[in-house]
Amino acid sequence: MDVKRRAFLRLAGTGICALPLNISGLVYASQEAAAKVQKKLITLQPEQAYWFSQSPPTDLWAMGQNVLRLQQHIPAEITVRNRLPDASSVHWHGMRVPNDMDGASGLTQQAIDPGQAFTYRFTPPDAGTYWAHSHHNTYEQLARGLCQPLVVEESTPYPADHDHLLVLDDWRLNSTGQLDLESLGSMHEWSHGGRMGNLLTVNREITPRLPVEAGSRTRLRILNTANSRIMALELNGLQCWIIAKDGQPLTKPLKTNESLTIAPAERYDLTVDIPTDWQGEQPIHETGSRTRLAGAFWQIIPGSKQRTERQSPQPLPANPVPVPGEGKPDHHAQLLMTGGAMGGLRSAIYRNTPMSAQKLSVNKQAWAFNGVANLPDKPLLSARTGATVEIEIVNDTRWPHGMHLHGHHFQLRGSDRYEPGMLHDTALMERNENLTIRFKAGLPGKWLLHCHMIEHQAAGMVTWIEVTA
Ligand code: C2O
Ligand code: CU
Repeated sequence: MDVKRRAFLRLAGTGICALPLNISGLVYASQEAAAKVQKKLITLQPEQAYWFSQSPPTDLWAMGQNVLRLQQHIPAEITVRNRLPDASSVHWHGMRVPNDMDGASGLTQQAIDPGQAFTYRFTPPDAGTYWAHSHHNTYEQLARGLCQPLVVEESTPYPADHDHLLVLDDWRLNSTGQLDLESLGSMHEWSHGGRMGNLLTVNREITPRLPVEAGSRTRLRILNTANSRIMALELNGLQCWIIAKDGQPLTKPLKTNESLTIAPAERYDLTVDIPTDWQGEQPIHETGSRTRLAGAFWQIIPGSKQRTERQSPQPLPANPVPVPGEGKPDHHAQLLMTGGAMGGLRSAIYRNTPMSAQKLSVNKQAWAFNGVANLPDKPLLSARTGATVEIEIVNDTRWPHGMHLHGHHFQLRGSDRYEPGMLHDTALMERNENLTIRFKAGLPGKWLLHCHMIEHQAAGMVTWIEVTA
């Protein structure tokens, strides 16, 4: 729509009637070229959520619309306008984009100042479920709500009766129903399990209804956008198959009826078959913590889609993501995680300076990777595009962590939590658990590797790898 209107204005401005034929030909040609780019506008701005009828709305920060939809393989031009009082940047979590489009402020770009704009240009190589979020003062901006689900559509739509998002988030509110901003940056939280909210929302609403017919099949895209809370969804009573993890299709859909654990930033695409005898409203419970909460409801709408036979769903078409082969990797590195509460971190290097635990804490650092708190000057490793890389992550702390690598998808070794062969951009590791991630080095540049329990990242759990051409 946008493109057409712009082309029309241009025609009007040039006085179409007086145009010689060959010039009007040029105008049409450029209109055609413009139609091959998907142009989007994201405005980072304050927003209000009407969560409680008795109290005033809650002030949040937001990215403009409920969901960003892009087409696979079509160049995208996404202009981000910053209408917030603070600088910001946008990271396309899980997307393989050129390094200078990755949105990691301070590493791949300068933060976008208030009143300024920045245009991100990339062609989505992979279809699937991703998300966009602030990557500047992330612990604060994510807690304020600066994120949005991102769906990259397959060129041929996947067969399902419905396609629903289930974006899980938790918010920390104070007694007046506003975001508790005073507790941001609490060292206690940064050195423990991170910031936990006291309000669960799904798709930024309290217990939204997902309309489905009895007997219908839904593609359900589940995202955890919380700062630090590990969520779990109860799926009992339903026929479910995992069809994708972190945007990447499983070669064979995996049947599941257990509850699904989703660490911060992880995504699952499921197909869900609604029983033919369901009526009214049926809860979807979040059970990650001690309390069992209804996060959303299936709302059974009239017009049943009775299926005579339950076929297992077909796999999603594969994405062109490079997969590491078997055999000896070209590069191997170890990443030793230390620190946190009850971790006994005595010292670490922070900004090139060795520091005692006490000095670290003054600098709001509580965790270290290979003895370094926060971003080191030198990368963990340097590899050429296409090389096979293995990183052995050793969790010598008393806490679970959800590790995320920018710009890549990896396979896991040594985890019984995940199905072998799955590809991930984020993976959960329990305390004292070790994981080996294995991937093919992607596009050249500096790619972050960090814990996505965002307070842990802020308090030291971040490093980077270098990929060279
Ligand atoms: Cu989802 Cu470095 O982030
Ligand atoms: Cu962590």
